[in-house]
Amino acid sequence: MLRKAVVDDIAALKLVRSSVVENILGDPSKVTDAEYEWFVKNSGVAVWEEQGGIVGFSAADPRQGNIWALFVTPGFEGKGIGSRLLAEACFCLQSAGVERAWLTTDPRTRAERLYRAAGWEQVGDASADPIRVALTSP
Ligand SMILES: CC(C)(COP(=O)(O)OP(=O)(O)OC[C@H]1O[C@@H](n2cnc3c(N)ncnc32)[C@H](O)[C@@H]1OP(=O)(O)O)[C@@H](O)C(=O)NCCC(=O)NCCS
Repeated sequence: MLRKAVVDDIAALKLVRSSVVENILGDPSKVTDAEYEWFVKNSGVAVWEEQGGIVGFSAADPRQGNIWALFVTPGFEGKGIGSRLLAEACFCLQSAGVERAWLTTDPRTRAERLYRAAGWEQVGDASADPIRVALTSP
């Protein structure tokens, strides 16, 4: 089930974020509760609930025109949840009038495949790590 996150969900969002095995956050303390709260209260965070718990979420930053977060707990990958959450984040950017969306991701990951399959194209240095990808009319 798809729904919007509330502030009380932030602890669960952090658990999902720390459960992933690709695009791992080097220093989790760099992403503060205040940042999560800003996204929940402003641009909105889409969460996917299954078996009574949050197993994925996404958020976009209309100020910068990028996807801020897209994470699915490993046991729930490959079922279309990430694609559904990516669509929500793109809709957020589209609604805010963003003409070209961008994000960075680690190369050769499931995430890179997902973005490419959704039409995102690599921009900038081809050998960069992380790579930067962009999508016109998100
Ligand atoms: C990237 C990520 C969000 C994708 O989430 P996901 O739920 O697995 O995404 P989807 O299920 O929509 O798509 C993934 C795969 O499942 C396939 N798939 C999609 N819907 C499907 C369905 N209904 N049935 C079977 N397979 C399906 C897709 O074709 C895709 O296949 P591929 O990996 O071989 O290319 C997730 O893997 C993740 O959190 N990764 C770690 C964190 C990360 O990298 N985040 C991005 C940071 S930039």
